[in-house]
Amino acid sequence: MDRRSFLGMGLSGAVGVVAGGSAMLGVDRVRQLGQEGAVGTATVPFLGVHQSGIDTPQASLGTLVAFTLRPGTDATRLARLLRLWSADAALLQAGQPSMGDANPDMAATPASLTITIGIGHGAFVAAGREDRWPFTVADIPAFPVDQLDPRWTGGDLLVQVSANDGGTVTHAVRELMRDAQPFATVRWQQSGWHVQPGVNPGEHPRNLLGFREGAGNPVPGTAHFTDTVWHSGTGASWFAGGTSMVVRRIRIDLDRWDQVPPAMQEATIGRYRSSGAPLGGTSEYELPNYALRGPTGAPLIPWDAHMRLAEAPRNIYRRPFNYDDGIDAAGMPDAGLLFIAFGADPSQYLHIQSNLAAHDAMNRWVTPIGSALFAVPPGVVTATDWIGQGLLA
Ligand code: HEM
Repeated sequence: MDRRSFLGMGLSGAVGVVAGGSAMLGVDRVRQLGQEGAVGTATVPFLGVHQSGIDTPQASLGTLVAFTLRPGTDATRLARLLRLWSADAALLQAGQPSMGDANPDMAATPASLTITIGIGHGAFVAAGREDRWPFTVADIPAFPVDQLDPRWTGGDLLVQVSANDGGTVTHAVRELMRDAQPFATVRWQQSGWHVQPGVNPGEHPRNLLGFREGAGNPVPGTAHFTDTVWHSGTGASWFAGGTSMVVRRIRIDLDRWDQVPPAMQEATIGRYRSSGAPLGGTSEYELPNYALRGPTGAPLIPWDAHMRLAEAPRNIYRRPFNYDDGIDAAGMPDAGLLFIAFGADPSQYLHIQSNLAAHDAMNRWVTPIGSALFAVPPGVVTATDWIGQGLLA
């Protein structure tokens, strides 16, 4: 309707149009709510050869909780907790209340909830199963660049709870904590976020450095991913289809990073900040060409660029969350990357981390302040089975 016919209708007609307009607005709002509903009711199956929350699409919010076993938590008691957690995780992921749920209505919006359970070396020892630890190392050694804080380090057990809704995450975390209460105490808890679904489709999300992250990751569903992430079962048949999970809290000095000229930031990472393409390239999806030289004859992707140093014969799968916990007592941003890496064996991570710790140009702005390693057992395929059964039953 043009302006003239609108004015010619007189006041009552115009009010009718406006009223009709708001009725339409109402319909749109209902439609929008309908779409939100679809996000809320989306589920990720708990049952599967592998646990969910590793190769399943990453949801926008994640909370990690590490536990210390109470004295006297032996194999029988640990099995009881893992049974409880498995049963409740299956219910919550399906959008149903957990057993004895304190807030059953909150379970109705699983919002792609995933609950991933990890077991630390200490729990293997407590259960008398140290000989079944599936990896070449028991823990991540401290590196010279580390300034580890016990508040973010270690743990006998871990749950990674992730969903596209904050209330869902908190509800699930609280239910799992309640389950754990007789067996373990909370050692640390940390939360972060990944990009919201639909925000930048077809591109890798930016981390707090302002750079896109994830291009160098193996792609779930490929043979490369399978080889990188899933344990073959060699030497630990119960662990076939499991993986190692390295958690590092890495603080970023954002105030100082923001002062760094863009070209120097790009040399530090080895990629362009805007497009995410490797230096000398045009697309974030192309492979880096490390042989390229600049006008002075120096490599275009410097020797100490993060990406160049992080290239390894056997990769890892990074599935981090960003964190921002405000300002610390000194007025500095308490923010960074809740780095999470999955690999068939933690030696894959250690190989890369050793190179980064020694030479990474990024070390001037990032400091690891928390560290932990967990064995993530394979998934379960029938509803009566539970995570860790192959270890403890
Ligand atoms: C605050 C800490 C970190 C930040 C901000 C960061 C950021 C980045 C960025 C922007 C890239 C390029 C895009 C991509 O491939 O994802 C990258 C690549 C990579 N990073 Fe990091 N990273 C951090 C820590 C680490 C750590 C601790 C490791 C492992 C020990 C690591 C391993 C890798 C690997 C394997 C690649 C891919 C290299 C390739 O292209 O093959 N990163 N990182």
